[in-house]
Formats: sequence, C-alpha cells, structure tokens
Amino acid sequence: MWIEGEVVGRVDWNDKLFSLQIRADIQPFIAGQFIKLSQVINDKRVARAYSIVNAPGGDLIEVLAVSVEEGQLSPNLQQLKVGDKLDVSPKASGFMTLEEIPETSFSGKQLWLLATGTAVGPFISMLETDEPWCRFETVVLVYGVRLAEDLAYKEQLLQLERRYPNQFKLVFSVTRETLPEAIQSRISTGIQSGEIQKLAGVEITPQNSQVMLCGNPDMISDTNKILLDMGLAKNLRRAPGQITVEKYW
Ligand SMILES: Cc1cc2nc3c(=O)[nH]c(=O)nc-3n(C[C@H](O)[C@H](O)[C@H](O)COP(=O)(O)OP(=O)(O)OC[C@H]3O[C@@H](n4cnc5c(N)ncnc54)[C@H](O)[C@@H]3O)c2cc1C
Ligand SMILES: NC(=O)c1ccc[n+]([C@@H]2O[C@H](COP(=O)([O-])OP(=O)(O)OC[C@H]3O[C@@H](n4cnc5c(N)ncnc54)[C@H](OP(=O)(O)O)[C@@H]3O)[C@@H](O)[C@H]2O)c1
Repeated sequence: MWIEGEVVGRVDWNDKLFSLQIRADIQPFIAGQFIKLSQVINDKRVARAYSIVNAPGGDLIEVLAVSVEEGQLSPNLQQLKVGDKLDVSPKASGFMTLEEIPETSFSGKQLWLLATGTAVGPFISMLETDEPWCRFETVVLVYGVRLAEDLAYKEQLLQLERRYPNQFKLVFSVTRETLPEAIQSRISTGIQSGEIQKLAGVEITPQNSQVMLCGNPDMISDTNKILLDMGLAKNLRRAPGQITVEKYW
C-alpha cells in the first residue's frame, strides 16, 4: 500500500507555503494527477492527496503544500527536512488531466486553467509537457492567491510566458493587496465581469474553450455557475463538455 519516500529538497515560499522534492519509486503518472503522502501520527495513519507539480519523466516528485492551521498532516509535512522519510502511494491517480479533455468539435481552441493557491501545481505539470502547446491555440492560466508572497513558482511561470509569448497568457489574481502586475478581483468575479478575458485577449465560449478549475471548492462552485450561465457544460466521458474540475477539499 505504501512505499518509502525520502525528502531530497525543499523550498519555502513563505512561512506557510512550501514545496517538497521527494525521491520515491512511484509508477509513471500523467500530468495533473496526485499522489498520497502519509505518516503515522499518534498511532493513527493519516493520508492526504497532493498534486504532482513536475512533469512526468523525471525520477523525483515535487509537491506544493500549505500548512493548514489545525490540520492533521500538513503542519507535519512542513517540518520535514532533507533526508527525512515519509510514506508515498506507489501509484498516482486523478482525472484532471488533458487526456480527459475530448478531441471533438468541443475540443476548444483555448485552454483555460483556473487555480487558487496550491492548486497551481497540477497545471504547472501540464504546462511543462508538450501537450497543451500542441493541442491549443491559446493557453490561459489564472492563478489566484491572497497575497503576493503566496505566488509560488512565479519565476517559472514568467519563463513559460517568455517561451510561448504568443500562445501563453498568464493572469495573476491577488485579492488581499494591490499589485501592479495582478488584478485584485477573485477569479469568479473577474470572469463574470470580463476583466480576465479582456486581459487575456480571448473570450470564453462553449465553441472555443475548455476550462479546468482546481483548488478552493467555493471558487470552483462560484465560477462553475458563471460558466454554466455562459453556456458551457460539465465535461463527462458519456457527454463531452467544456468544464473539468478538481476540488481540494
Ligand atoms: C485531489 C486532491 C489534490 C490535492 N492536492 C493538494 C496539493 O497539491 N497541495 C496542498 O496543499 N493540498 C492539496 N490537497 C489538500 C490536501 O489533501 C489536504 O487536505 C491538506 O494538506 C490539509 O490536510 P491536513 O491533514 O493538514 O488538514 P485537515 O485536518 O484534513 O484539514 C482540511 C481543511 O484544510 C483546508 N485545506 C485543505 N487543503 C488546502 C489547500 N491546499 N489550501 C488551502 N486550504 C486547504 C480546508 O479548510 C480543509 O477543510 C489536495 C486534495 C485533493 C482532494
Ligand atoms: N495564505 C496565507 O497567507 C495563509 C496564512 C495563514 C494560514 N493559511 C492557511 O492556508 C489556508 C488557505 O490559504 P490560501 O490562501 O492558500 O487559499 P484560499 O483561502 O483558497 O485563497 C486563495 C484565493 O482564492 C480566493 N477565493 C476564496 N474563496 C473564493 C470564492 N468563493 N470564489 C473565488 N475565489 C475565492 C481567495 O480570495 P479572498 O482573498 O477574497 O478570500 C484567494 O484569492 C487557510 O485554511 C489557512 O489554514 C494561509
């Protein structure tokens, strides 16, 4: 059920937000999937899901996590040092992958990736593969956080913007402070008002867009309602649509 993982690197983005690089012999995964990390705490096994941030193919897995106050596992993960061991699920799971997006007339010219907080991770994994760039004319990532210091992987994202200057649109939403390079509206509000589409230079339409949403469940339900009003539909295997979601809690 569990294999041993070893922490081989870590990055502290701020006093709550951190990334762990873990060496563990997991089976091949698909960008967008998650693994489970686990520890036995007070004689009880605690296991939680964490999306993989790096692209498939390397020999490490990287996760981005926030230490949740009063949380059972995440404060322990934050304490891990290089050389520490933890349990890892041997196989990644999850359906928020580009494979699940249909290759039909609904397939979409634009891929919209909407993330709050740590949920930027699985989208970075996808953006570091060739697939989104081969399949979509435009890829928009909207990354919503409370504060500028919560923008993990900002440099890597700006590098992707330089690598795909005509194809990649990067929109930061920083809701609790004013930042020149970010909008201050929440993702839901920014889409409802059209502020985000204007910045990205593309519209969201059922004919042309595929939208993936990940992270805070309230952001997902609020934004989902707005997308349904715009004529988009949930993407199901038996009925292809345009909206694919993964709620973190
Ligand atoms: C498919 C999936 C993928 C996930 N991927 C990640 C990931 O890549 N990184 C990550 O940090 N978490 C991720 N999570 C959440 C993670 O599994 C844990 O729930 C989280 O680390 C809290 O665990 P805990 O035991 O410390 O807190 P718990 O005691 O389980 O407390 C849970 C509470 O913490 C809050 N919470 C949980 N996750 C987050 C979060 N990411 N950001 C803000 N608040 C949160 C919510 O209020 C939730 O009700 C994912 C969850 C799912 C279902
Ligand atoms: N980030 C921190 O500074 C900090 C500090 C201490 C502890 N924590 C821990 O981290 C957890 C959450 O932190 P987080 O900042 O990563 O995630 P978060 O609370 O999910 O916030 C991330 C972004 O999602 C937005 N959002 C929230 N509800 C939304 C909705 N209904 N529709 C659209 N957007 C919505 C937030 O906007 P709003 O700002 O408008 O809510 C914010 O921009 C907390 O549970 C806490 O335990 C974080």
